[in-house]
Amino acid sequence: MLTLGVICALLASAFALDTDLPAPTVKRCTGTISSLADVAAAQVCTTIIINSFTVPGGQIFTINAATGATITMAGDVTFGFAEWAGPLMLVSGQNVTFNGNGHTLFGQGDLYWMRDGLGGNGGVTKPAPFIRVNNAGSFSNVRILNAPERSVAVKGSPVTISGIMIDNSLGDLPNSRSNGLPAGHNTDGFGISNANNVIIQNSSVHNQDDCLAVNGGTNITFQNNVCVGGHGISIGSIASNVVNNVHITENTVMSNTNGLRIKTDATATASTVSNIVYTNNKLSGITEFGVLIDQSYPDTLGLCFFFILFPVPCVQPSWLIGTPGTGVVINGVTFSGTNTISVTSVAKRVSVNCGSTSSCVGTWNFAALTVTGGAAGTIRDAPVTGGLF
Ligand SMILES: *[C@@H]1O[C@H](CO)[C@@H](O)[C@H](O)[C@H]1NC(C)=O
Ligand SMILES: *[C@@H]1O[C@H](CO)[C@@H](O)[C@H](O)[C@H]1NC(C)=O
Ligand SMILES: *[C@@H]1O[C@H](CO)[C@@H](O)[C@H](O)[C@H]1NC(C)=O
Repeated sequence: MLTLGVICALLASAFALDTDLPAPTVKRCTGTISSLADVAAAQVCTTIIINSFTVPGGQIFTINAATGATITMAGDVTFGFAEWAGPLMLVSGQNVTFNGNGHTLFGQGDLYWMRDGLGGNGGVTKPAPFIRVNNAGSFSNVRILNAPERSVAVKGSPVTISGIMIDNSLGDLPNSRSNGLPAGHNTDGFGISNANNVIIQNSSVHNQDDCLAVNGGTNITFQNNVCVGGHGISIGSIASNVVNNVHITENTVMSNTNGLRIKTDATATASTVSNIVYTNNKLSGITEFGVLIDQSYPDTLGLCFFFILFPVPCVQPSWLIGTPGTGVVINGVTFSGTNTISVTSVAKRVSVNCGSTSSCVGTWNFAALTVTGGAAGTIRDAPVTGGLF
């Protein structure tokens, strides 16, 4: 029996034979994926439809789409349980439009979390990231449910990501193996490493780690998103990399440990983080630091891991803050519009821990930042001006 995928492949080769020109990258056909076996034939087509199916545990669902292709989900996809490194899904190609139509990718993270609650720090091997978006173009309208560990890794340049609902809320529940702590761990929402011209908008993340982590890249915009339950919106951690021109705009952050954070490694070398702009963000229920800019990573966090053994908030007395390095120059941190942060009673409002006045430079205009609640933090070696905190 001819499957649609095979028909599509035949059409594609007919097109290739029709002309003396080199084979076009784009084949005018519709390829339908209802199992991994359909992918090879379907991914050469301009239109790719994903039906509901289950990806066997231990295998990657990779779509290496033709240039200009449109990928549309017509059903939910479930990823079978297996202890392996992942990723579970990879979408790549140039100028590719991926529209999930509101369908769900089921990661079954709960099956991993129930074993240890350790995320990437131990226990069973958990596939990560859930999905790698390597396609330049767009990626939208997908619900990503229960990522075993990190959720969405962004590599496509340029790419616009909209309407993604990352829901790891079930991971908030403790279980008998997770020491009374949330069973989900290291379930970062969006991770960007070395991708330029990335827009992430109109999305939501409920998780147990960073909502956004930018490890490298230029021209990154994170706007109109909602973050619940995690570790805040982060630049870093940075070991040896460049992050330039990041706009964090009109986001709502609720019940996260940190609010807005820049973390650079104490041992980092030859790196820069420049032009970070926060505009019109609203944060509430922040339990550790409203704003934390720290050049001593991971010492700060390392101490938090110590605190994590006990059911107490990870708030460090000043004598426990790590020794910062100077290998990353942070040049320019600006708040514009109206940014408001309310922190809980045990939290610090704003803490800045720079290695020296030559590693935190440029304009640090905090005038458009108001932080309330908790206790004052300390500002070390940074040219901060303005702000109410
Ligand atoms: C990208 O693909 C769309 C069709 O999805 C097409 O209309 C457009 O011309 C393409 N743009 C580029 C720069 O290739
Ligand atoms: C994102 O949300 C804003 C405001 O709700 C809306 O104006 C915009 O059209 C949305 N964009 C996309 C791509 O959904
Ligand atoms: C960043 O955006 C600017 C302005 O649009 C553009 O000129 C520059 O090429 C972009 N940088 C990268 C690395 O794409």
